[in-house]
Amino acid sequence: MRICVVGAGYVGLVTAAVIAGLGHQVSVVENHPAKLAVLRRGETPIYEEGLPSLVKDNFRDGRLTFTDDIGAAAEKAEAVFIAVGTPSQADGSPDMASFYAVRDALCQLPYRSNAGRRLAVVKSTVPIGTGDALHHFFQKNAASRSWQVISNPEFLRQGTALYDTYNADRIIIGTEEEDAAHLLMKIYAPLGRPVLLVDRRSAEMIKYAANTFLAAKISFINEIACLCEQVGADIGAVARGMGMDARIGHAFLRAGIGFGGSCFPKDLHALLSTGQEAQLQLPMITAVAAVNHNQNLLLPRFLSELYGDLQGVRVCLWGLTYKPGTDDTRDAPALAVLAELTGRGAQVTAYDPQVKACWLVKQQFPAVAIAHDSYEAAARSEAIILLTEWPEFAHLNWNRLRHQVKRPLVLDGRNCLDGSVVEAAGFSYAGIGQKRYSLKRLQARTGSAEMGVALS
Ligand code: UDX
Repeated sequence: MRICVVGAGYVGLVTAAVIAGLGHQVSVVENHPAKLAVLRRGETPIYEEGLPSLVKDNFRDGRLTFTDDIGAAAEKAEAVFIAVGTPSQADGSPDMASFYAVRDALCQLPYRSNAGRRLAVVKSTVPIGTGDALHHFFQKNAASRSWQVISNPEFLRQGTALYDTYNADRIIIGTEEEDAAHLLMKIYAPLGRPVLLVDRRSAEMIKYAANTFLAAKISFINEIACLCEQVGADIGAVARGMGMDARIGHAFLRAGIGFGGSCFPKDLHALLSTGQEAQLQLPMITAVAAVNHNQNLLLPRFLSELYGDLQGVRVCLWGLTYKPGTDDTRDAPALAVLAELTGRGAQVTAYDPQVKACWLVKQQFPAVAIAHDSYEAAARSEAIILLTEWPEFAHLNWNRLRHQVKRPLVLDGRNCLDGSVVEAAGFSYAGIGQKRYSLKRLQARTGSAEMGVALS
């Protein structure tokens, strides 16, 4: 089949490469000139495990092509996958400008009597009712009446996007038009994944509800972690014990500094904005966002309390991306941490294995220095805060670091370091909700002679 994918972000490019790999002819529309130039060399403008070789192979074999001409690409296609961004606006509602631009472009395609039915497959996360509205929009216009709209939300995670696509727990197909559903099922059939057929609005809601539920699990475990600190329980043990209940499961019970990324925060706020429009209070979802906001700021606030004042204090941040395995810093907890630390006058040096010169960080925090490695970032620091659990942080030479820092303090926002190893090298260490290495214990020891010596 001839397929067009609009948008070469994480969702669009992964979808395009996977579908091309299934043997289809895929034309990807990308209107960002720098990105398009990279793609037209057969290269990948985003960091995602396994994606560069899949893109390269399909590009070389001529199954994957790139263009900025949506009209030409869509006109020949039997199915157009819409995977453009719908970022949050100031009021939390998604910005639909790119989506509407695609809609208008599809509507302007010349009428072809022999075109047959054509699929508009919505992969972008869009407000509930968007698919139905698109369907009615197409129906109003004789030339676009051949388009059939399907809501087909995407559940891939950045960092494991290809794995998630090949091993999807389910493929949601939202349409009441049977022939359209069958055509899309035919495209996905070689993946052999379970399919759930629903109406368009339910498909759109499934995406929001699933993401919000996962975010709720994280905020829940983080709230329990804070309580563990106070009552002397250990969040690792608690999460393991909870997760062994098959009704709860182990996934998304890792306590830390909270979630970020291009999906969870955006989708939470979009759902809240939908609630507002429907004049419905959504207290649980409101709480999930509020708990996460506090959790993002937990460590800089703790540090500020510990030291009394952060003016001129040198702080090292390890990790800027919202999770390992990606170069994405959108809505990363690191941005909230940077704002809090720099707002309190701290001098921050950060290191991230994938973020070397991030415009988002540079533009918002011009005074923040970006180091080339963990050691350079930690040099002369008075506190190290770990924000992303990149595997390399678990294999550092702590004795070497101990000689480089000014004050030996490590705050582990992802509970990914071995506290006994870090403390054996002479550091003071605390994680989040850890019984043995709680923030409370660290705070209690600050006044003690032992801690005074250690931190001086
Ligand atoms: C998420 C959804 O998982 C995916 O289905 C959807 O399509 C897009 O949004 P993604 O944002 O790429 O994917 O990453 P995910 O692995 O879900 O992590 C999101 C955030 O939650 C990260 O900041 C991560 O550090 C945090 N997280 C995750 C936790 O703090 N604890 C956990 O137990 C799991």
